[in-house]
Amino acid sequence: MQTVDRIEALRMLLKPWRRADLKIAFVPTMGNLHAGHLRLVEAARRHADKVVVSIFVNPTQFGPTEDFASYPRTEADDSAKLSEVGADLLFLPGVAEIYPRASLTTISVAGLSTIHCGASRPGHFDGVALVVCKLLNMVQPDLLLLGEKDFQQLTLIRRMVADLNLPVAIQGVATERDDDGLALSSRNGYLTAPQRASAPELYRCLRAAGDAIQRGERDFAGIEAAQSLRLTQAGFVVDYFTICRAADLAPATSGDMDLVILAAAKLGNTRLIDNLVCRSNG
Ligand code: PAF
Repeated sequence: MQTVDRIEALRMLLKPWRRADLKIAFVPTMGNLHAGHLRLVEAARRHADKVVVSIFVNPTQFGPTEDFASYPRTEADDSAKLSEVGADLLFLPGVAEIYPRASLTTISVAGLSTIHCGASRPGHFDGVALVVCKLLNMVQPDLLLLGEKDFQQLTLIRRMVADLNLPVAIQGVATERDDDGLALSSRNGYLTAPQRASAPELYRCLRAAGDAIQRGERDFAGIEAAQSLRLTQAGFVVDYFTICRAADLAPATSGDMDLVILAAAKLGNTRLIDNLVCRSNG
């Protein structure tokens, strides 16, 4: 695996692949890689000839009181893991390479960027959209792979790519979970032992809500309230637990069939998010 930290060097390495008409897949990450990221790279390998991974802790998607400075930076470990799973090229730029000057251009996916996680993390999704758009312009891949765990991010990037006619296909990859159901996340490492023991309750509540919908319950507000209460009783501070239309993340109504249940809740200072896609039986 080759590693570069400059856009110019990245483009030089990509040129012969493109000339040879090789299919290029791209997996953007912020590093501190876990098995979920590695599944993305493995999926990329199955669908393309060459796999490019970026590691960039993007300052513009962190709020002023968030963990940008303390976000785990584990490049040597990450690089070893990426080589092992067969990534071809690692792009590891510094902040000055991606943002040589403050960007006057912003990308805001109206509606999608300010709801759910966007409501409690103002500006977060504008930062995500900006950096993903910049990285796509740098790598110009045929295929972009993103985890389904960040369902709102995936939905928003799909919409940005469609709205801006960016020439890339997008593939969402299923969430990787620990044996007890907790979705893998770089932030799980912040949990204390008792918090880690409580954390799988988030997925259990999502499943309970999904089961209720499958059984034909249509009182979505009632399901949301019951599962939010259960989370609160388990020690979480709930940000949202909401049943939405999968296509645009708007609140679901009883006639909607393709649904996603989105949840975000804090255990101590650690904010966990998860989701469950479910199809209503009508
Ligand atoms: O999901 C992430 O790790 C980040 O939001 C992404 C897509 C790499 C953009 O910085």
